[in-house]
Amino acid sequence: MDAATHPYRSVLYIPGSKERALDKARSLPTDAIIFDLEDAVAPDAKAEARETLAEALRSGGYGKRSKIVRINALTTAWGLEDVRILGDVGADAILLPKVNTPSDVDNLVDLLPATMPIWVMMETPTSVFNAREIAAHGRVTGLVTGTNDLTKELGCRVRADRMPLMNALQRIIMAARAARIVAIDGVYNRFRDGDGLLTECEQGRDLGFDGKTLIHPLQIEGANRAFAPTASEIDLAQRQIEAFEHSKASGQGVAVVDGMIVENLHVVAAKRILAKAVAVAEMEGV
Ligand code: COA
Ligand code: MG
Repeated sequence: MDAATHPYRSVLYIPGSKERALDKARSLPTDAIIFDLEDAVAPDAKAEARETLAEALRSGGYGKRSKIVRINALTTAWGLEDVRILGDVGADAILLPKVNTPSDVDNLVDLLPATMPIWVMMETPTSVFNAREIAAHGRVTGLVTGTNDLTKELGCRVRADRMPLMNALQRIIMAARAARIVAIDGVYNRFRDGDGLLTECEQGRDLGFDGKTLIHPLQIEGANRAFAPTASEIDLAQRQIEAFEHSKASGQGVAVVDGMIVENLHVVAAKRILAKAVAVAEMEGV
């Protein structure tokens, strides 16, 4: 499932240990779910969470929501068993944390069914330096930004404008776009602050992310709104496409809409907006 055919506006983390949340997610309007066995699950609860999660996935009921399982790193005491139990229970991708290099991904490839896509947490400074090679790995279809870990590793301050993280965020997006894979922004920790979330979603959208990872159901609506094409974007895209076709038919290479030039590249971008709008409408069952 790539971002052209499936939206990833809202990507909700759910601790694999929380049965009630695992069940609740079956009716939440989130585009994707990251079922977490890593940092949201305490060491003592890891083994039970693995079984609880496997059972939830086997039972199904998650509809069109993309199902991504975050395992523990393979260097931990739990990673190998996570893959053994959850590598083949119907997830759409396995998300690998604490990746530094493409060879960390290779280690997982060796353990997974050949068709299982891999998503990667981008949360260490080394992963950001290696973003291009990690994104270009043949099995990697998505990058998830781990802003809390990055902030910790960098020793930077948490700022509302995320200036200290900007270079990393942009490298992650550039790497994903160069490889034509999905790019998801990090979480917004103050989960009851809807205005703050919206501001950060809009920043992530403007940077080019496909969507945002979320930690609480309260955050879903804001992310869905921020990362969907707006009515005026859809309207402009339609008019750009029409005007360009019209110009082309009369032998011209460019058109003008709302005082702005429209070249072929703008038409490509406009078509992408319309495709995203269709994917969102399908997700919402409209
Ligand atoms: N996914 C699905 N449902 C969730 C949820 C989530 N991430 N977080 C909370 N809920 C559910 C609760 O089960 C509860 O459902 P109920 O009303 O049917 O009982 C409802 O939403 C309200 O929850 P609330 O009481 O407001 O949250 P909380 O105070 O119990 O928990 C957190 C707050 C942050 C601890 C919790 O949201 C959470 O664990 N989030 C995920 C954290 C995570 O995965 N981190 C790893 C990546 S950073
Ligand atoms: Mg992390």
